[in-house]
Amino acid sequence: MKILIIGGSVFLGRAFVQEAIARGHSLSLFNRGKSGPDVEGAENLRGDRESADDLEALAAAGPWDAVIDTSGFHPRTVGQSARALSGRAGTYLFVSSFHIYADWPAGPIDESSDRLDCPPDAAVDEVPGNALKAGCERAVEKYFAGDALILNPGLIVGPRETPGRLLWWLERMARGGEVLAPGRAGQPVQLIDARDIAVFGLDLLEAGEAGRYLVTGPQGTTTLGELLELCARVTGAGARPVWVPEDFLADQGVGPWTELPLWALEQPAMAGAWAASPARAVAAGLRARPLAETVADTWEWLRGRGPSETPYRQGDIVLGIDPEKERAVLGAWRAKAAR
Ligand SMILES: NC(=O)c1ccc[n+]([C@@H]2O[C@H](COP(=O)([O-])OP(=O)(O)OC[C@H]3O[C@@H](n4cnc5c(N)ncnc54)[C@H](OP(=O)(O)O)[C@@H]3O)[C@@H](O)[C@H]2O)c1
Repeated sequence: MKILIIGGSVFLGRAFVQEAIARGHSLSLFNRGKSGPDVEGAENLRGDRESADDLEALAAAGPWDAVIDTSGFHPRTVGQSARALSGRAGTYLFVSSFHIYADWPAGPIDESSDRLDCPPDAAVDEVPGNALKAGCERAVEKYFAGDALILNPGLIVGPRETPGRLLWWLERMARGGEVLAPGRAGQPVQLIDARDIAVFGLDLLEAGEAGRYLVTGPQGTTTLGELLELCARVTGAGARPVWVPEDFLADQGVGPWTELPLWALEQPAMAGAWAASPARAVAAGLRARPLAETVADTWEWLRGRGPSETPYRQGDIVLGIDPEKERAVLGAWRAKAAR
């Protein structure tokens, strides 16, 4: 197949690139050349997806059998590329997320769940940030004159991960010692390896499929405790998780999700955080590799790259607890336990 990837140089896009090249597809990449080097074996097209002129030049470089858009966040921008590529590609695969579902993360979701309101032409400041991808999906469905294939991934991990949630845990475990672990070891997590999304997405494109698939790991099979044990084992520094209850962490001012990554509060508002059904995707061929393989491969990649020079960030928020604060909270917890 002839495939265009809008993006392709960071994480999920890179996984699509590697899988597409391994399958012998003819690949074009369109990006600004800021986030990563050119890819050998692909046609590297420079341009900014925000620029109408660059999109016009891009369309002239086609046609393609399919476009894979891993870098769409704003409805108007995605609408522009969907319009520009209409008639220049057969299928538009848009990578969306769970955020588009009105019930997530409070309740369970599947492909039939309601989407948040967000028009296909919404400007960034017109709707709340978590609804923007819903507008992007609608922009593809409205403006692309061909098949729309929408993937809604849950939390994605694997080599080259952004923003670095699993990377932070691996680096923390590699420092060894007692590690502040949030809540309880048995709380569920539901993760998917970027490489498994790429395999599934390309399988669907090769089969000429369209529609919507929620892509995540199996429900109810993995816990945060298992994940941290796997991280401790592969890093081999003898790190020991110390599980500290949520209410104590709240009293100490330790925040969920970002300060201790992947920690979703076990409260009603987050009851569906790890309760998405990938059944439709599994029936269509999605296979999630064992978490142990993802953790081992990610650690191997991380060791090859070396520690991050800058903190991991989710938007403006730095990921991971400050080491001093972690020591203080562990000390306070030990003091409480000793009373
Ligand atoms: N991480 C998660 O847990 C998670 C969960 C659910 C969904 N997702 C979705 O998965 C996707 C992951 O993205 P990724 O970063 O891994 O994708 P990627 O395709 O590997 O990297 C982003 C690409 O976008 C390009 N880009 C950015 N701005 C551009 C512009 N104005 N014009 C042209 N190209 C531009 C970047 O290159 P240049 O900077 O060089 O232009 C880069 O190649 C996102 O859509 C995200 O919403 C992620």
